Amino acid sequence: MRTISVGLGARSYPIIIGTGLVDRLGDHLPGNGKIAVISTPIINDLYGYLLESIGRDIELILVPDGEEAKTWETVEEVLGKLLGCGLDRKSTIVALGGGTVGDLAGFVASIYMRGIDVVQVPTTLLGMVDSAIGGKTAVNHPKGKNLVGSFHQPSKVIIDPLFLKSLPDREVRSGMAETVKYGVISDKVIFQIIEETPIADLEPETMVEIIARCAAIKAKLVEQDERDDKGIRASLNYGHTTGHSIETLSKHGVNHGEGVAIGMNVAALIAEEMGMVGSEMRARLERLLNKIGLPFNVPDLSIEEMVEVMHRDKKAEDGRIRFVLPTGIGEEPVLRYISEETIASALRELQ
Ligand SMILES: NC(=O)c1ccc[n+]([C@@H]2O[C@H](COP(=O)([O-])OP(=O)(O)OC[C@H]3O[C@@H](n4cnc5c(N)ncnc54)[C@H](O)[C@@H]3O)[C@@H](O)[C@H]2O)c1
Ligand SMILES: [Zn+2]
Repeated sequence: MRTISVGLGARSYPIIIGTGLVDRLGDHLPGNGKIAVISTPIINDLYGYLLESIGRDIELILVPDGEEAKTWETVEEVLGKLLGCGLDRKSTIVALGGGTVGDLAGFVASIYMRGIDVVQVPTTLLGMVDSAIGGKTAVNHPKGKNLVGSFHQPSKVIIDPLFLKSLPDREVRSGMAETVKYGVISDKVIFQIIEETPIADLEPETMVEIIARCAAIKAKLVEQDERDDKGIRASLNYGHTTGHSIETLSKHGVNHGEGVAIGMNVAALIAEEMGMVGSEMRARLERLLNKIGLPFNVPDLSIEEMVEVMHRDKKAEDGRIRFVLPTGIGEEPVLRYISEETIASALRELQ
């Protein structure tokens, strides 16, 4: 078992990572108050049996699968159920599911009786390396994604890679794009492990190593910039400016990780053209993405519209578009304003 601590003074917490951890989930849950597990029907069918071993007073609350969980209506419904079953300030919410469940359950925990403990138990790779760590919670609004939320750090994050066995391949690949991102922005060993391990052999123990390395990077960035207002967490957006625009314009036909994979390649090409990295960096990146089964070329979408969507991206300040550009594999990236012409030309080259 590996433990990484997120040092945030009174809000500090451990991230524990190990195969088989959830078989003894009850041993790892803090406190001794009542527990409300928030999950989805799909996860409950697969893993509901794990709750039997908790051996405490538990309420199971099921919410819709995917983004549909992240609505005001669901928040109201869940709050009603928590009140109905007598959850109090000493109780703990356990978020058992992907990033959508984690975001919703974290938000509910942040407002229930002015805030109670939440333990994140992510079941997707994206949840394990990204969304379960860092305390950002949110639901969606008709005007946009994640527009309503709070910062509410979990009191613990419990990561068991055995959940990945049942995760659909495409979701695993999507999460792998984020692990490649961490490799590029901070830790070349992550990149090397994925390069050297046959994908079919990404056994739980290898995943523990990869996830622990990614979680450690995110933990460090969160410690330095808890509320994401100092620009330090910005490097986590590597590949995301282009990625979001492709996700949006493809109406999510291209999923998050796939968009990020393509976006990492676009940013690497811009960095290459600015003389910040040599051409071998992109060759290595493309080889790795290809090996994982992720796309790295720009799909057949309008380049003008892509640039237009980037303008609306949160990183566009005073009408200018900012990119996270790599400076090498495992090297700290830089944040630069990039002209529309340069972006369009890189997109065209990779289309
Ligand atoms: N809070 C943050 O810092 C942060 C960061 C990144 C993303 N997010 C949010 O995370 C969400 C995306 O999360 P996600 O990619 O985990 O998607 P998700 O929660 O929708 O899960 C993806 C799919 O996998 C299924 N699933 C989950 N675990 C499974 C398992 N072990 N076996 C089989 N099926 C399983 C789910 O039912 C779902 O259909 C978005 O809403 C995004 O905004 C939040
Ligand atoms: Zn992402």
